Amino acid sequence: MENEAYHVPVLLQPSIDGLNINPNGTYVDVTFGGGGHSIEILKLLDKGKLIAFDQDTDALANTIDDRILFVDQNFRFMRNFLQFNGITHVDGILADLGVSSHQFNVDARGFSTRTDGPLDMRMSQNGEKTAEHIVMTYTEDKLKQMFWLYGELKNAGKIARQLLLKREEMKIDTTEKLKEALLPVTPRYDDYRFLAQVFQALRIEVNEELTALEELLIQTIEVLAPEGQIGNYLLPQLRRQDG
Ligand SMILES: C[S@@+](CC[C@H](N)C(=O)[O-])C[C@H]1O[C@@H](n2cnc3c(N)ncnc32)[C@H](O)[C@@H]1O
Repeated sequence: MENEAYHVPVLLQPSIDGLNINPNGTYVDVTFGGGGHSIEILKLLDKGKLIAFDQDTDALANTIDDRILFVDQNFRFMRNFLQFNGITHVDGILADLGVSSHQFNVDARGFSTRTDGPLDMRMSQNGEKTAEHIVMTYTEDKLKQMFWLYGELKNAGKIARQLLLKREEMKIDTTEKLKEALLPVTPRYDDYRFLAQVFQALRIEVNEELTALEELLIQTIEVLAPEGQIGNYLLPQLRRQDG
């Protein structure tokens, strides 16, 4: 079930090695995506179990190995799910955070700076908050804080002000319209990097990525067995935002 079209996993072998897999243990891949990491875990399991979370229902199509117990939920519900199913401890948790290549490549999801699409950016099709909602309704202060914290944009204040001005004139509901609205504050050189940072900030806010991660990390303390391992792969995601 290797699914290169859906997502090419990064740091595959080091992340699997880091889990130090017990063939009879219980593992959770909280970011299943194309299943590239999960399939490697399965190869090392004998009587062990693999539970896979992904809040994107598109990922379900990649669960073609029936040993995977797929949960189409946010990983912030990991502890509840495990408790409900009588699983008190797990031996390893893997998190390959951020967006999959699939999510970037489907224009209708609105993640890519390169193609036009609805200003959506929800990883979960059931999510309530879209990037359009944020751009069209957040206060200037809230927008500024978001671009500053999640996009690390030095001109966060100017970006926020520009969006407030523009949204009086037009409905900013596509990625192209967002780019057009931001033209006056977009640097002439390095515009691609600027837009990648703007999109990253919106994506993190739409999906409440940092809150979900915080909740997950707190839960791992409770559910990991004493010798259990957690693997967290965040840095490559920053690179992938440019993809
Ligand atoms: C970088 S991809 C993972 C790719 C995967 N490791 C592979 O080998 O194909 C991240 C995936 O995690 C999912 N995801 C991100 N945050 C999530 C969350 N809070 N809860 C559930 N799934 C999440 C995304 O929908 C995406 O499919």
